[in-house]
Amino acid sequence: MSTYRIAVMPGDGIGVDVTAEGVRVLRAIEEKSEHSFELTEFTVGGALIDQKDVPIDDETVEALKGFDALLYGAVGGPKWDSRPLGQTPLAAILRMRKELDSYINLRPVKLFPALNAASPLKDSIIEKGIDLLIIRELTGGLYYGQPRFRNSERAVDTMEYSRHEIERILRFGFKAAKARSGKLLSVDKENVLETSKLWREVALEMAGDFPEVELSHLLVDAAAMRLITDPDKFDVIVTENTFGDILSDEAAVLAGSLGMLPSASLGDSGPGLFEPIHGSAPDIAGQGIANPIAAILTVAMLLRHSFEMEAEARSIEMAVEAALDEGWRTRDIASGQSGERVATTIEMGHAVLGCLV
Ligand code: NAI
Ligand code: MG
Repeated sequence: MSTYRIAVMPGDGIGVDVTAEGVRVLRAIEEKSEHSFELTEFTVGGALIDQKDVPIDDETVEALKGFDALLYGAVGGPKWDSRPLGQTPLAAILRMRKELDSYINLRPVKLFPALNAASPLKDSIIEKGIDLLIIRELTGGLYYGQPRFRNSERAVDTMEYSRHEIERILRFGFKAAKARSGKLLSVDKENVLETSKLWREVALEMAGDFPEVELSHLLVDAAAMRLITDPDKFDVIVTENTFGDILSDEAAVLAGSLGMLPSASLGDSGPGLFEPIHGSAPDIAGQGIANPIAAILTVAMLLRHSFEMEAEARSIEMAVEAALDEGWRTRDIASGQSGERVATTIEMGHAVLGCLV
């Protein structure tokens, strides 16, 4: 029997509630399988600011590097968000991504058929199905480029990409496309930006190494539009940091709620970092009504990407689908149709557990 070590960081607000449901599912997988999971909890974000006045400390960062995978909830809240840049709860997650060199951000977007009514798109569009994967470059571009400064008259951000940074994220994109439909869409702004011209040049060069993948390109503004008009035409999308941030939030709407979407941040070495894409939702924190499905699907991604447990990951995803088919809905995905069973966070977690085979 193999033992896997997982660091668990629930964070703040609903991060705490939804992570608890994710952990429950992990324990259920452990009971049904030969694997054993050793969980160690760490305090990060606002909760750590209250204790030590920092969002994450050096000992935690060093300790995290020794785990097999990291499971994270969400951080933040009005009590701490006005602190200076670099000292807010969110600085904890930004530092983790950079220190782990997690340059690959995977955001699968899937609309479960039971939730068609929760999506704002017309039936004629969504009934064709929405199941796509956004691969966002996470450690380059505008978020980290230098120089970066601001005074009252002028502000500068720098968008910079090296060939190396572009190649490594595109390589992941080609491989992911090969494992899915064989189609890779690279999104850029090649008509305007130098970084995008280099991005496209590198993509075209690399296409020769992946003859089994059909590469296409789309400008980011056109991609934003087509995600809404023809979401079924998308499969694997690879793009730079800022474009990926915006497109993935846009795509999240397609799935019915932020509370449905998991994500993974991966590097070439070191543990993967797994988190729901939503934040700590102060508006509903402490009410026990947050949707735990994003956190539960995050556990499935952790098993798939860090431990190569594809069967276990699939069983979790099928359990979520089955619970939705049974009518279970947290408030964010309830649409008032007959047959819906409105659930609290814990009830939704139990419904998924009950469907796990
Ligand atoms: P948010 O994602 O926390 O909430 C946006 C809206 O979606 C809210 O109305 C919320 O109630 C709803 N929502 C989000 N997740 C939900 C769930 N699981 N179930 C039901 N409803 C859900 O984003 P917001 O409000 O912009 O930020 C709140 C705090 O979270 C801030 O402090 C922000 O900095 C932090 N944040 C943290 C992130 C992280 O830790 N990775 C990511 C995004 C925001
Ligand atoms: Mg975002």
